Amino acid sequence: MEKLKAGIIGFGKMGQKYAKELSGNPLCELVYICDTSEAARETAAEMYPGAIIIENEDILFSDKAVRAVVLSTLADDRPGQMRKAIKTGKHILAEKPIAAEIRTEWALVEETERSGLMVAVNLFNRMAWYHKAIIDFIRSGEIGELAIVRIAHQTPGHMPQEGHVAEGPAFHDCGMHYVDVARWYAGSEYDTYHAQGVRMWSYAEPWWLQVHGTFRNGVIFDITQGFVYGHMAIDQTHNCYVDVIGTKGIARMTHDFKKATVQLHGINKTVIMADDFNDKKINVIVNVFARSIIEGRNLGFPTVRDSVIASDMSW
Ligand SMILES: NC(=O)c1ccc[n+]([C@@H]2O[C@H](COP(=O)([O-])OP(=O)(O)OC[C@H]3O[C@@H](n4cnc5c(N)ncnc54)[C@H](O)[C@@H]3O)[C@@H](O)[C@H]2O)c1
Repeated sequence: MEKLKAGIIGFGKMGQKYAKELSGNPLCELVYICDTSEAARETAAEMYPGAIIIENEDILFSDKAVRAVVLSTLADDRPGQMRKAIKTGKHILAEKPIAAEIRTEWALVEETERSGLMVAVNLFNRMAWYHKAIIDFIRSGEIGELAIVRIAHQTPGHMPQEGHVAEGPAFHDCGMHYVDVARWYAGSEYDTYHAQGVRMWSYAEPWWLQVHGTFRNGVIFDITQGFVYGHMAIDQTHNCYVDVIGTKGIARMTHDFKKATVQLHGINKTVIMADDFNDKKINVIVNVFARSIIEGRNLGFPTVRDSVIASDMSW
């Protein structure tokens, strides 16, 4: 079978992860790497001597042999690149958020859904073995009726002005992942909520935020997210968990970015599992995306609509 020819636009921290997984996946062939930074292009040329390294994205878009493109620049470049990909019939694996403001994001939901192309967004949690194990346990009835979903993601992460400035404060840039996770667990749409944020270090935007509320199906949630968790501590630590409470049992997960541990306490069984956290799970999404293109249907990747609902709520 012919390999799926793909290109990457944006060879930064995420772009390098995609390059590793695309070049290592037997279904794919990494043909182009595009970056506007000369330093990034030099690194790409050293690491991937077989790839064509370009500064101008239009070379990639006009190559009819290229069937898929990974968009891993920042959000403000994504709408133009997505529209070029749609126009030239290329499947898209995009980083989140898909645009820097919400009106354009909703317009892109319509445009991508109309295109008939496979368009995935890297909401990496949806590729995680530990969330899938918990969701399977919930759906099997082991915890009774799902009542409460509690999520915390508190780390010594970016300081204000670090990271992806165009992509908003911490609760948008990072927190949208957990807004998506809660909605995925609940299997319903957000209904009511109330939130409070703290402008740590007197920064203009909240860098810690807590929100609680309800889904339309009555499930209750709370999410706590902050890049405020002991940046200056001599031994840094995290507080990351999912805690799911049903009418008869519970399921929970903690991780330290190296290992994830799942504890399932159901009415028929107790299951304890621990395995690798697996960073951003790019190997998993690249594989699901490639197989989906080959089969012509979404085999489980997160959609543009999932991403935009999470982005909208977290803004
Ligand atoms: N899904 C996740 O868990 C996750 C995690 C981290 C980052 N991200 C997202 O991934 C995206 C990239 O983040 P990053 O940390 O890799 O950023 P980065 O700054 O390390 O990399 C961005 C790269 O894009 C290049 N670039 C910028 N504009 C370009 C253009 N028009 N054409 C070609 N190249 C261009 C830059 O030179 C840089 O090399 C961001 O949108 C970020 O929010 C997602």
